[in-house]
Parts: sequence; C-alpha cells; structure tokens
Amino acid sequence: MKNVLIVSGHTDLNNSFANKLILEMLKEKLPNAVQTLLDSEYPDYQFDVAAEQQKLIDADVIVLQFPFFWYGAPSLMRKWMEDVFVHGFSHGATGTKLHGKKLVLSFTSGAPEEMYQEGGLQTYPIEAFLPPFKQFANLCGMEWAGHIYTGALSYISKSDEQRTEMRSRAIAHADSVVETVNAL
Ligand SMILES: Cc1cc2nc3c(=O)[nH]c(=O)nc-3n(C[C@H](O)[C@H](O)[C@H](O)COP(=O)(O)O)c2cc1C
Repeated sequence: MKNVLIVSGHTDLNNSFANKLILEMLKEKLPNAVQTLLDSEYPDYQFDVAAEQQKLIDADVIVLQFPFFWYGAPSLMRKWMEDVFVHGFSHGATGTKLHGKKLVLSFTSGAPEEMYQEGGLQTYPIEAFLPPFKQFANLCGMEWAGHIYTGALSYISKSDEQRTEMRSRAIAHADSVVETVNAL
C-alpha cells in the first residue's frame, strides 16, 4: 500500500469552510494518510525540519492542500517549502531524497472558476499559475501527479442555500482528491 502525506497550508483552519471540510473528508476516506496541519502544529511558523523531512521521506504520494492566497500557496506553506526543501535534501547533486515521489496539488479559490480565463476578471486560466509548482516537483525529482481545483468557495456573505451548495462542491473536491490518490 502506498503511503500518503497530506500537508495543509491553510493559515487558520479554525476560520476555514472549504479546506477544513476537505481535510475532514480526506481523513474519513483516506484513513491511513498522514495529515500535517501546519497552522496548528506550527503557529509560530518555526518548523521541525527534521520531522517534516522524515514525513516526506516516508511518503510515496504528497498532497499539498491549500487555499489560493494571492495566486499561490499561503505564506505558511511557502515558508514550509523554503525551510524543509533544502539543498542536499530535495535537490542538488546529493539531494535525492524525494526522487520518484508523486506530488498532487489540491487547492480552492474564492473567485469562481469561470473568472480564471482570458478576458475574465482573473485574466489567466488557473493552469497559468501552476508552472512554479510543476518546476518545484521537477527540480526535486518528484513526479507531477496533477491538480484538483475548485473555485467559488469563499464563505463571505453567503446565504444558507449558497453554503449548502458550496458544501457539496467541497465534498466533490475531496472525492476527486481521493480518486486521484487511489489511482496512483
Ligand atoms: C489573504 C487572502 C488572499 C486570497 N487570494 C485569493 C486569490 O488570489 N484568488 C482567489 O480566487 N481567491 C483568493 N482568496 C480567497 C480564498 O482562496 C478562499 O477564501 C479560500 O479558498 C476558501 O477556503 P477556506 O474556506 O478553507 O478558507 C484569498 C483569501 C485571502 C484571505
């Protein structure tokens, strides 16, 4: 059986609707996956680098779960990447520890999916924001195993009906992550 590591980069899951629900669903449907919730484990952004590296070494599949913040991963996840994926571990001549592992991106946005297109408010398709992540996988010798993305998941000023609809789309998102991971 493959070992799955899910890393949550949300900066405050206590005030999350979508990522919290997605992570709960993933816990239920991928019970053997290890979940790292960076906000509760490292509220001061000071990571246990050795422990985080060991979790990556132990994993066959790494899922990065985060809300899209200013067109990329939130600060907490960025700092985790900066501190943990260091030369000699993840890249460089002797940095081969992550070779062959599969990387899956799972993220949510506030803007609806249809805004992410040429001529739309967000100007670019969502795929235009992925190259830095893809190259991160490349440089670390990881295999890019795809992305799962759902938009219009902002909780601000929503009616009960809209929240119910958002809930079902967040659950569908989690189902897609499970399907993707199980197919690897
Ligand atoms: C600091 C910040 C930056 C954000 N940047 C973006 C963005 O660049 N594009 C976008 O579509 N939504 C953006 N959003 C909306 C979030 O992506 C959205 O609220 C989140 O995916 C919902 O997940 P949650 O319920 O787990 O917090 C941003 C929200 C915050 C708080």
